Amino acid sequence: MSPSPLSIPVMMSVVVLILISLMPAQSSSSSPTLTITPRILKKSGDTVLIEWSNVSSPSNLDWLGIYSPPDSSHDCFIGYKFLNSSPSWASGSGSISLPLTNLRSKYSFRIFRWTQSEVDLTKLDQDHNPLPGTAHLLSQSNPLGFAAGRGPEQVHLAFTDEESEMRVMFLAEDAEKRYVRYGEEEEEMDEVAVARVERYERDDMCDAPANSSVGWRDPGWVFDGVIKGLKKGVRLEVIQKAGVRFIVLCHGMKTQMKP
Ligand SMILES: *[C@@H]1O[C@H](CO)[C@@H](O)[C@H](O)[C@H]1NC(C)=O
Ligand SMILES: *[C@@H]1O[C@H](CO)[C@@H](O)[C@H](O)[C@H]1NC(C)=O
Repeated sequence: MSPSPLSIPVMMSVVVLILISLMPAQSSSSSPTLTITPRILKKSGDTVLIEWSNVSSPSNLDWLGIYSPPDSSHDCFIGYKFLNSSPSWASGSGSISLPLTNLRSKYSFRIFRWTQSEVDLTKLDQDHNPLPGTAHLLSQSNPLGFAAGRGPEQVHLAFTDEESEMRVMFLAEDAEKRYVRYGEEEEEMDEVAVARVERYERDDMCDAPANSSVGWRDPGWVFDGVIKGLKKGVRLEVIQKAGVRFIVLCHGMKTQMKP
């Protein structure tokens, strides 16, 4: 007896069913990934490497959103870059390096699919570019933070009303007592000015979005120390040393600030 002609189509349909049931598992293992290196930056201005892969059929409008705090809603990105700024974007993977300012809050990153047909010319940013669409999230990163205890940041020099004085202003993450130490030699920083410390709060902001939870940024603590007894006509220059100390150099006189 020859086999029934029906048995072949039945076997084929079993094969087709197995193939179909394998499909979802395969596509989930190739879902886009977004990773950051490192997860903790040492200081403000250091660079994070953001890498993505497995983005299928890349669009040249696919973009990377920068978020801080990390749980901000999709449309509250604080900056963005198109993935096509990476030379390998068309392959579905690539990387972008970004220097990040310490906002005293963590960051996170998300990549989105955006296509030409979704460009909405009625929603423009301040530079008159259409705001990128957030309808299709591809992937999001882990949060990124900054190492604690890295000392003063954003050091600025300013005048006071006295010719023989300079004001040294800087930011820190807490209100602990800090000093500006100065003297004529780097090894002899005998003069000390206690820095005054102040802070402003969200309630002090006069308008939205700065006075709302979305636009408010923790300013840190603002320190202010006054260097006295400077000679007339000195030129001051601030240089950063070992990431944590700032030296204020002037002709014939050096001052050093310690956290
Ligand atoms: C990308 O997808 C392939 C399968 O399509 C998988 O083997 C690979 O591990 C994925 N890569 C990442 C980084 O997830
Ligand atoms: C922010 O400031 C504006 C203008 O003063 C005010 O109308 C608004 O209520 C404020 N919002 C919050 C959350 O305080």
